Amino acid sequence: MFLGIDVGTSSVKAVLCDAALRTLSEASVPLGIAHPHPAWAEQHPDSWWQAAVQAVRALRISGPVRAIGLSGQMHGAVLLDASGDVLRPAILWNDGRAATDSAELSDPVLERIAGVRAMPGLTAPKLLWLRRHEPELHARIAHVLLPKDFIGHRLHGRIVTDRSDAGGTWWFDQARGTWSDRLCAATATDPAWLPEVLAGDAVAGTLTSDAAQALGLPAGIPVAAGAGDAVAGAVAIGAVSDGVGFISLGTSGQLFVATGAYAAAPAQGLHSFAHAYPGLWYQMAAMLNGARPMAWFSEMTGAPLPVLLAEAAEADSRDAPLCLPYLTGERTPHGDAQIRGAFSGIGNGTTRGQMMRAVIDAIAYSFADAKAAVEAARPLPARLRVIGGGARADLLVQTIADVMCVPLDRTPDAAVGPALGAARLAARAVGSEPPYETPEAQHFTPRDTPWHAERLAKFRALYQALKGLT
Ligand code: XUL
Repeated sequence: MFLGIDVGTSSVKAVLCDAALRTLSEASVPLGIAHPHPAWAEQHPDSWWQAAVQAVRALRISGPVRAIGLSGQMHGAVLLDASGDVLRPAILWNDGRAATDSAELSDPVLERIAGVRAMPGLTAPKLLWLRRHEPELHARIAHVLLPKDFIGHRLHGRIVTDRSDAGGTWWFDQARGTWSDRLCAATATDPAWLPEVLAGDAVAGTLTSDAAQALGLPAGIPVAAGAGDAVAGAVAIGAVSDGVGFISLGTSGQLFVATGAYAAAPAQGLHSFAHAYPGLWYQMAAMLNGARPMAWFSEMTGAPLPVLLAEAAEADSRDAPLCLPYLTGERTPHGDAQIRGAFSGIGNGTTRGQMMRAVIDAIAYSFADAKAAVEAARPLPARLRVIGGGARADLLVQTIADVMCVPLDRTPDAAVGPALGAARLAARAVGSEPPYETPEAQHFTPRDTPWHAERLAKFRALYQALKGLT
């Protein structure tokens, strides 16, 4: 059996799989996020560890675990002192405090090395912010880890990361596969603080006796380095060769295409990063808001999501307001940490269903922008898989297919995602990777919806009109 642990943003998920990587047991423990200031987003690494322990202990483990794999939210800065103690709460991928610091890093040469424009959510600009605003703490940094690597450190004691999480930091030379002294020098970072970089399917260490006792497992189990969650999702569904792509609808959203060669295309906010496996990269449009605006609207109105989805299905997009889904700013295509969500065109007669329709359309329009960003660099695959919790909503998936004009395929395991990828990396690490199965997929074929083109143009104009006003 293989165990995958995914340190997500809203929860830590653990999944136990059999040798064929079929799910035997799953558990999830929710996480809170602190927003000490409006644009900030923090979690204490200890809360990840406690949640990981609780999630693993909640699994029904009925036999020996051969290996453990890790996945986690990308780009977060976990800062440790020389004794390995946590210096402050981790600064997360959706934290916008380093906006000014990122703007100062605008440089085409650095962007080509790093694979993306500097943006506040990425790890390196956060270190510049820390030197300016928390200099005493900055002076005590001895190690910088990514979220899943903190859990790895607790499990096996080593300071390591994998290619894909390294690739998301803005310190990694994507083409050479090593930390870049130049990027470190530009971002107040001592390269000695950065972890050793392994392939995602390499054994990073073995379970220490302390960790084993906490998890209720035997010591000595191999732990694979793992991957950032976007890449672990790719590993889960087989986006591990050139030209295979998918969209992910979670708390964040991605349009992801694996590539056999590195090609930076930083314009339009595209991310060109190292994949978990050597010799493989990917190009990704990364959206900070994913399917989250639907959950937000449900929380705001107090109406359950299924009710809102049913109401939205009855509403016609042509009668619906326009919405911007940017609850926490946006990376692709805007690289704008300040922008926030909006509704435009609300009238006396606007219904809740029409507003939910607007939210769904807005998510789909953000995927149209993602498509434009990817297509500026390479052709889009003819069809895309759809994964993540938001993929459960038929109306959302169909609307995205309509707006992107791309057929989407959803398999029954679509919601499992990164934790399953982590389990696959564990299996690979001990030389026991089973072949990918191709489960029966439900197909969402684009329909003729010409009004979306008109609304998309207005959606883009609405962003331009509101940019700088929030
Ligand atoms: C990817 C990204 C998110 C986070 C959190 O670039 O920012 O996927 O990893 O899920």
